[in-house]
Amino acid sequence: MKKRWWHNKTAYQIYPKSFLDSNGDGIGDLRGIIEKLDYLKELGIGIVWISPVYQSPFVDQGYDISDYYAIDPAFGTMEDMEELLAEAKKRDIAIVMDLVVNHCSDQHEWFQKALKDPFGPYGAYFYIREGKDGRPPCNWRAYFGGSVWEPLPGYDNLFYLHMFAKEQPDLNWENPKLRQEIYKMIRWWLEKGVAGFRIDAIINIKKDLRFSDFPADREDGMCAGTTMLACAHGILDFLTEMKEEAFAPYHAFTIGELFDFDQQELKRYIGEEGCFESIFDFAPHLLGGSDHGWYNRKPVTMDQFRDAVFESKAISQEIGMMANIIENHDEPRGVSRYLPAEGQTERGKKLLAGISLMSFGLPFLYQGQEIGMTNKMFHSIQEVDDISTLDEYQTAQEHGYSNDEALVLVAQMSRDNARTPMQWNGELHGGFTTGIPWLPVNENYHQIRVDEQERQENSVLNFYKKLIALRTDAVYGETVVYGRQEPFLPDQPDFTGFYRKGRENTLLVLANIRETPRTIEVPLAIKKVLLDNCSTGHKAEETKETAAGSPVCMQGFQFLVLEVF
Ligand code: GLC
Ligand code: CA
Repeated sequence: MKKRWWHNKTAYQIYPKSFLDSNGDGIGDLRGIIEKLDYLKELGIGIVWISPVYQSPFVDQGYDISDYYAIDPAFGTMEDMEELLAEAKKRDIAIVMDLVVNHCSDQHEWFQKALKDPFGPYGAYFYIREGKDGRPPCNWRAYFGGSVWEPLPGYDNLFYLHMFAKEQPDLNWENPKLRQEIYKMIRWWLEKGVAGFRIDAIINIKKDLRFSDFPADREDGMCAGTTMLACAHGILDFLTEMKEEAFAPYHAFTIGELFDFDQQELKRYIGEEGCFESIFDFAPHLLGGSDHGWYNRKPVTMDQFRDAVFESKAISQEIGMMANIIENHDEPRGVSRYLPAEGQTERGKKLLAGISLMSFGLPFLYQGQEIGMTNKMFHSIQEVDDISTLDEYQTAQEHGYSNDEALVLVAQMSRDNARTPMQWNGELHGGFTTGIPWLPVNENYHQIRVDEQERQENSVLNFYKKLIALRTDAVYGETVVYGRQEPFLPDQPDFTGFYRKGRENTLLVLANIRETPRTIEVPLAIKKVLLDNCSTGHKAEETKETAAGSPVCMQGFQFLVLEVF
């Protein structure tokens, strides 16, 4: 694999609204991020992706952009952004912006002009089509519920397409003028000094232009938008053009958010000549999903998590480096979702961190993950802000669930689980704000908080630091970054084991995912224990040599990284 500057980095996602509020208005902001750059540096972070900070009406929390060239006043000013870029650079941290170009906001001037003149040049920036006698052109369902078609206000029988909320009209990528507008905007930000982009929902830019019905998959008579995407061909032409015209001249770092793409084409996405540098590996996150909605999801076990990771890595590590996550702003907290109830402890959280960060790939942490933040308790649907959770709640009710039952069902998946404010300390609202937070802080902020974990040598936070440091370790870094990941005892229940086989050394990762101890026979001689989530103090790094075939006794939820030969 051709080496790239970002391969041995660790990346971190900031959800700016919930990270740190510097001026007491209850909303996190750019100055809050600047204040915490040293914290991120200390953690070992080399790349920071910031979810959208552009001007937005916040129907979908900034993923509805009304001006790509402006910072929303809630987050600060363009000067703050420039200062952030300069301060990050001093600390050798690359800043990655969110690129949301499948759609914009209905408040964007392009859409406002399209409204005035649907058949004019700006109308052609969107998908505006005639309905069938006042009914939508076809039966595709939007991700956030309802038809993808919304009547164009003020016109009879004209509709515009939105894959997400109706306030997020889709941009017409078939129009070369629109594409050029987007490339211009990308170059503008790269000129400013951003290192690259996380590219939002990008698979949606290519539609099946027949705009025809598909068989209904729910009682509402509609079909999922993704059914249509499977029939839309030619997206790679757009992506290649975007790379050539906008990213490549700046050597931009690009990471795609891609669901529902053709796995056979992986090489064209992240291979050496691929259109992106990396994409997120969502294999474990797709587990348990249902076409019917969140209410119908299945719980996921750590063994399924393991199998999904192995299956994905078996293919992808030959081609390029994907990014490993356990959570992000669209997913519940990983420790609440994947760990069995009895493993939702500090020890278990370190184990999950270890599996994720020792797997082949670019580790991508989400704010709060490094201290083991958990899902929130929702007492009523009134506490929910997220547009997607509200839609899924309604879907659950339509399928016969009571209000209370529906709340319990959707609470597990709610995107708000990850969006509660960052828990910095034991002050009111976890030190996130001196005002009223836009979304209430998780009630457990006294137990789970940064300041305490910085003090405690054996905290989850300090375990993350050790894992992150291994990527640049003089002796083991090469193996942790590039070593081949091969399953070890893949059929053992409640267990995850794998090798990382590098040029200089071989590591064996072992995770006992149950409360009871177990004995593992390690076929190779053990040279050293690199990491141990059960050690109290510096013992773990001690040399510990055993002969080949020796049994290793593991405690409940123990996680080990061994050097073997
Ligand atoms: C992506 C974002 C998500 C957003 C959606 C629409 O999936 O991560 O938060 O709602 O795109 O932009
Ligand atoms: Ca603020």
